[in-house]
Amino acid sequence: MDGNGRWAKKQGFFRSFGHENGTEAVREIVEACAELPVPYLTLYAFSTENWNRPKTEVQTLMRLLVSSLKKEIKTLSDHNIKLNAIGNLESLPKKAYVQLLDVMEQTKNHTHMTLTLALSYGAREEITKTIQEISHKVKNNLISPSDIDESFINNHLYTRDLPDVDLLIRTSGEQRISNFLLWQIAYAELYFTDTLWPDYRKDHLFEAILDYQNRERRFGKTSEQLNP
Ligand code: IPE
Ligand code: MG
Repeated sequence: MDGNGRWAKKQGFFRSFGHENGTEAVREIVEACAELPVPYLTLYAFSTENWNRPKTEVQTLMRLLVSSLKKEIKTLSDHNIKLNAIGNLESLPKKAYVQLLDVMEQTKNHTHMTLTLALSYGAREEITKTIQEISHKVKNNLISPSDIDESFINNHLYTRDLPDVDLLIRTSGEQRISNFLLWQIAYAELYFTDTLWPDYRKDHLFEAILDYQNRERRFGKTSEQLNP
């Protein structure tokens, strides 16, 4: 979800105004996914690198996280959406962490869709943590190195309960991944759009999904193998 700052600055406002308006886009896109349905939606809300932003901006983002969680519990309930989170959640301010766990607890039995917030998330941190955990298991003779296969690694990632990414959308014209789900996007379809996140609406999402539906996902195979 990129482009909040530029969206605000373009209109002569502070960056925080862009972040506030970005929450409207979040609600609309979450609802659109619930209606389609898209069973799994993961939003990159705050990266490990975002901690390096000015303190006041980090505070604004954390405050918005808490207020959105409080406000949107109804949206989640109305659409039977389960809230999930990935990242180094313990590094969040206590208030945000408690609120997040509270909404996750309240929505844990919802089954229509899983909405995952990537918070204080970085793929390199996730992979590092995974390697540490697996190394401990080897060291303590709980497993042997030959037990480590792709699914074993998968089961140690934050995303162990989620399927691989099918479609990755990045807004605001930037064409990079920025440390997002590096393992999980191995075969994802990438979609880049110039639209700034606060302007992102249902029609933009539908356009991206239509584009995705017209692609041939070969997973290394040939087109002839897929269409005999
Ligand atoms: C995305 O918008 C919001 C977060 C990273 C939390 P940005 O704040 O990155 O907006 P730009 O890139 O400065 O326009
Ligand atoms: Mg940005």
